[in-house]
Amino acid sequence: MRDVAIIGASQTKFGELWDVSFRELISQAGLGAIEDANLSGADLEAMFVGNMSAGLFVGQEHIASLISDSMGMNPVPCTRVEAACASGGLALRQGIMAVASGYHDVVVAAGVEKMTDVVDATPAIATASDQEWEAQQGATFPSLYAMIAQRHMYEYGTTREQLAMMSVVNHKNASNNPNAQFPFEVTVDKVLNSSPVADPLTLLDCSPVSDGAAAIVICAAEKAKEYTDTPIYVRASAQSSGTIALHSRKDITTLDATIAASRKAYDMAGVTVKDIDATEVHDCFSINGLLAIEDLGFAKKGEGGKVLEEGQTNIDGDCPINPSGGLKARGHPLGATGIAQAAEIVWQLRGEAGKRQVDGAEIGMTHNVGGTGGTCAVHIFGRDLN
Ligand code: COA
Repeated sequence: MRDVAIIGASQTKFGELWDVSFRELISQAGLGAIEDANLSGADLEAMFVGNMSAGLFVGQEHIASLISDSMGMNPVPCTRVEAACASGGLALRQGIMAVASGYHDVVVAAGVEKMTDVVDATPAIATASDQEWEAQQGATFPSLYAMIAQRHMYEYGTTREQLAMMSVVNHKNASNNPNAQFPFEVTVDKVLNSSPVADPLTLLDCSPVSDGAAAIVICAAEKAKEYTDTPIYVRASAQSSGTIALHSRKDITTLDATIAASRKAYDMAGVTVKDIDATEVHDCFSINGLLAIEDLGFAKKGEGGKVLEEGQTNIDGDCPINPSGGLKARGHPLGATGIAQAAEIVWQLRGEAGKRQVDGAEIGMTHNVGGTGGTCAVHIFGRDLN
């Protein structure tokens, strides 16, 4: 397999974007990444786009064709990739594999979701859970993650305040991210006293319903310097599957797919968790951020809350988490999230993240989850190849 680099990255503003259409969102992000990579459209060989449910959110299928057309890229082949909230992470992996295999030299991996055009996004999001055994019985994603939170609190004594700390860290980082949906800080008290959603989770424990898109340009490492002086190298791309439904698990306080994908990724990159300088984790709900801290290996099982409370996950801590603001505060347009995470790590490793920069970051990781852990993609990036 060939070595692979990222040579361009772009993200639209995330939020409730009434004045921007689905096609405009993905075109802004895709063309932004192409421009950032100093790429001539003629060099682009393929596009892979993560999207969970344009059919349900905006009534549009066949989006791969719509996207190449809107971006003015015909006849470049464009392929849609779907894996719920991990659609972006899997599109990224498809792009990396296409270049690593030697089939293509330069491709775009992008992600897009426009969720706010429907009156109630919850039933559409719930199609990513097990229909027969979860959604049709009335379970929604906030309620499934609330059950995980309840169990984690019962098993390990995790406190409500510790869960809230995940949101506090995310919002603090988002306050320095101009593309974030919620660029303001919150306190533990504010999280605890926001509207109840699914006990113990409140509004400020939840990622929002968002519109947005992100894109990156992937290139054969040997050609990367033809386009940029600061290529960022892909050190590992790993993906794992877990059970789609919670009731099939021995233990709902661990996402087995996160453990499997991250261990594969550490092996592939030849690193341990201690070598990672900055990580974007999939905190769709505060409890999932806490699980990620444990399952990726930043904390022992049951001690994620303690690590958060001690400030280890702050930008200047031992294991900075979600410098972008994470899904909670940067926003979570489902199909775009995995790519936005990668874009943030690219900016961090290039030293371009402004006030949210993790000092001297050299190795970064992204962790993108579909559903309650039915799919997980973990990527590791470095300033250098080894
Ligand atoms: N965090 C902070 N503020 C939020 C928010 C969030 N997650 N979601 C909405 N808000 C704000 C809105 O901006 C709005 O503020 P305003 O009154 O100042 O304009 C206010 O709260 C009400 O917004 P509304 O859209 O009516 O909220 P809602 O009650 O319909 O939805 C949730 C709130 C938490 C239920 C919804 O955001 C949600 O379902 N989130 C989870 C999404 C999800 O499941 N993703 C997939 C994960 S696997």
